[in-house]
Amino acid sequence: MAYGGYGGYVRLGSHPDPDEFLIATFKTVPGPGRTLHQAAEAIAAESSIGTWTSLSTMQQRVLSRLQARIFFMDKKKGILKAAYPIELFEPDNSSQILSDIAGNIFGMKEVASLCLTDFDAPKKYLETFAGPAFGREGVRKIVGTDKKGKRRPHLGTIVKPKVGLSPKEGAKVAYDSWAGGLDFVKDDENLTSHPFSRFEERVVRYLEARDKAESETGHKKVYAPNITAPADLMLRRAELVRSHGGECMMIDVVTAGLSAVQFMRHQNLKLFIHAHRAMYAAYARNPNHGMSMRCLAKLCRMCGTDQLHIGAMLGKMEGSVDDVMQIHRDINGVGERKQWSRIKPVFSVCSGGLSPLQIPGLYKIIGDDAVYQCGGGVHGHPGGTRAGAKALVQSLQAAKNGVSLAEYAKYHPELAQALAIWQKR
Ligand code: 3PG
Ligand code: MG
Repeated sequence: MAYGGYGGYVRLGSHPDPDEFLIATFKTVPGPGRTLHQAAEAIAAESSIGTWTSLSTMQQRVLSRLQARIFFMDKKKGILKAAYPIELFEPDNSSQILSDIAGNIFGMKEVASLCLTDFDAPKKYLETFAGPAFGREGVRKIVGTDKKGKRRPHLGTIVKPKVGLSPKEGAKVAYDSWAGGLDFVKDDENLTSHPFSRFEERVVRYLEARDKAESETGHKKVYAPNITAPADLMLRRAELVRSHGGECMMIDVVTAGLSAVQFMRHQNLKLFIHAHRAMYAAYARNPNHGMSMRCLAKLCRMCGTDQLHIGAMLGKMEGSVDDVMQIHRDINGVGERKQWSRIKPVFSVCSGGLSPLQIPGLYKIIGDDAVYQCGGGVHGHPGGTRAGAKALVQSLQAAKNGVSLAEYAKYHPELAQALAIWQKR
């Protein structure tokens, strides 16, 4: 007997057990001449066991055990909820889950557009993933901001220009940033290893600069070298970072791929993972098509990133306050289901187009549990990098003390200079 085609997958009104099913939420517009019901059938079939026609090879056992079911449909908004038997998903395999719930379905003619907006999964599946080795609290411990009374946002910068400086020049910029009071210095997303900045030399020089800044200031400083490359090379780079006393590796998680993130996480190198999301917007920006940043953030947490760029809200990147704060809550375990409780929270990173001027606003929205990063907003300071770093520290002090920037700037010249140039923009 032949079963199927795109039929029999819509079971409205059923109540899937969240301990047995992965629940995915989609938003869709049916393709030309198709109804929402037809689109829903196709989505559920193609993302689980089916295809466009009935199959002589289909078995009742496969159908009843493994087919996805659409159990909710909002006709007006085009929202669908699909339940996937958890057996469909290979434990600890981020590529495989994406090939199911974010695979062929985006290109099917049954949909004009389709967005995977959210997913949740049973504890027994989520816990097959390693999750962050350090997480938010582990990173705080390294920097010494984990205890009550010491908790504050971490302040960081990205060496600018994005690429082009020699390791020696970049190390000086990094040193000035740390000496000016910042905790964290990172490479930019498009800096890896180039004739003008070889990875090995950069790591050595930056970590020497870090040691100098630490001994002069008495504070812990962290450098995040961008190891993004083919996975075998990433491993060699990470080992080099570790052997020179680094604590962190940065990975461009979308361009490198989540499988590469998992590979690095599985090595247990005792380096925390700073995740940059370059290219995320190719699929997450259009709210009607692709996969939301929220889903990417959950996947990053499962795969083991310790810090993740989530959006800056007040800076140069897209992302509304509501959306970014939802992601922040998701990866920090605020209001989540117990399913996630044993996977460590991820430290949110707000970065992109920020300067000392936005810090009080940002602090009001997100508070202590985030890394605030300014690239141009530090190195564009008229007094140079060290003055820019000081201005950033001062703006956070003002925010934490509830003093206006204008008032604080009266006694803090670096902040006053920052206000003078960036307020005009
Ligand atoms: C980032 O990768 O987040 C950016 O390099 C931030 O740089 P900006 O602060 O100059 O926008
Ligand atoms: Mg950048």
